[in-house]
Amino acid sequence: NVPYPQNEAQYSYAPGTKERDLLKNALKDLKSQVIDIPLIIGGKEIRTGDKGKIVCPHNHGHVLAEYHKAGEKEVLLAIEESQKAWKEWQKLRYEERISIFLKAADLLSTKYRYLLNAATMLSISKNAYQAEIDSACELIDFWRFNSYYAQQIYKEQPLYSPKGTWNYTQQRPLEGFIFAVTPFNFTAIGGNLPTSPAIMGNVVLWKPASSAIYAPYFIMKILQEAGLPDGVINFIPGSASIVGDICIKHPLMAGIHFTGSTAVFQKMWKDVGANIAKYTNYPRIVGETGGKDFVFAHSSADIKKLVVALVRGAFEYQGQKCSAASRAYIPRSIWGKTWEIMEAELKNLKMGDVEDFTNLINAVIDESAFESITEYIDYAKNSKDAEIIFGGKYDKSIGYFIEPTVILAKDPHFKTMEEEIFGPVLTIYVYDDEKFEETLEICDRTSPYALTGAIFANDRKVISMMMEKLEFAAGNFYINDKPTGAVVGQQPFGGGRASGTNDKAGSILNLYRWVSTRAVKENF
Ligand code: SER
Repeated sequence: NVPYPQNEAQYSYAPGTKERDLLKNALKDLKSQVIDIPLIIGGKEIRTGDKGKIVCPHNHGHVLAEYHKAGEKEVLLAIEESQKAWKEWQKLRYEERISIFLKAADLLSTKYRYLLNAATMLSISKNAYQAEIDSACELIDFWRFNSYYAQQIYKEQPLYSPKGTWNYTQQRPLEGFIFAVTPFNFTAIGGNLPTSPAIMGNVVLWKPASSAIYAPYFIMKILQEAGLPDGVINFIPGSASIVGDICIKHPLMAGIHFTGSTAVFQKMWKDVGANIAKYTNYPRIVGETGGKDFVFAHSSADIKKLVVALVRGAFEYQGQKCSAASRAYIPRSIWGKTWEIMEAELKNLKMGDVEDFTNLINAVIDESAFESITEYIDYAKNSKDAEIIFGGKYDKSIGYFIEPTVILAKDPHFKTMEEEIFGPVLTIYVYDDEKFEETLEICDRTSPYALTGAIFANDRKVISMMMEKLEFAAGNFYINDKPTGAVVGQQPFGGGRASGTNDKAGSILNLYRWVSTRAVKENF
């Protein structure tokens, strides 16, 4: 039996520790080479020669790797190989499947931690502390907790069997393959989306985002070393128009496991709808998309805690978290004090390369993110309805650097209060204390998203009232804490409305989506 797991403990990487030296060595090692990343289909490395480059976002002159892109032939081969693998994989006892992911977690915890953290730091510009939370702790947790949840699902479900009958259920994987599409911003999500269906006996085609192929490639290698049979997960980077199109229109596509933009997810639904009569089974569509996550303070809030949430929630990993705090509502009575403390905190944030561990802010992922985020900043600069009260400068000469930026909006419906920016930009609206309830209603309905949200208050009655008013405004709701940093096994993650299907990554609810139950009744 898999015992209930404990969360993986974080390394501090404090100066003078051996962990810090080992991580620095891993960074040096990866920087000294340009690796060639193949596709991995049916366990074999395939090089198509149609290549793309992977660069460091904080130093775009530095090429880390080249990767091969899948064409139509390779995608079809991956589907064929997955179906060969399915026959054996789905028949294995669940304990045998789980053992592979538990071993992968162990390998990552002991042997590959520094490598994967260094790969995450260099390729998506995440600082050492954020990388440790993501590509070490969260990914290890996903594999261990999902193994435990899988065991719970596969155990006999209690059913009543009247005299003369025997009733039981069998959990089977879905027939066909799962299409996993992973985002750039969390290496752990990269590792979770293909593996959670696989743990449940499914086979997977994995297309990582073009801006995050480097760390996922190392994850694929770890899974292979842990004993994942050939063809169970097939690693096929490439363009959405080729890989996505072929996978989604294929009759054997049994499910989508997606994290990424709302626009892409909506297109997937449309494509599935247009092809619905072709599939062997109705595909399970599981997705987590955007957010416009709020921090809402009441006048009874603890100001110091509120400031920590605003600064960490909005600017850790440059705000490139779907959970990032990107709009805040602060009552006028505490605004002056809040800003005084917050401005001082913001002045302490250093921005730069990931190799200097004192830089807490690094670069945004790529040029198109840089352009779209800075357009919002410029919009605020040129508007009469808002004022930039901190930051606002940016520079892409060496890397894609954007200062942590705070916009003060006069209107709660100002563009940057409503639209997802996915960058280091926080918009604050200061409300009149007597308009508390009215402003809560505005907060609930300002954006189409409902991923995360945080409220700050010390009065219990007020907390209850805020929870009720904002009941459907966030799938992950935090009271007196920042809206980011969900931990596997502690806060199952996901949201509703335009933020996704709320199938809670890192919980048993997610794994249930990857089985199809047979209920058996036998008469004696
Ligand atoms: N799970 C992450 C968080 O909670 C976001 O994907 O911040």
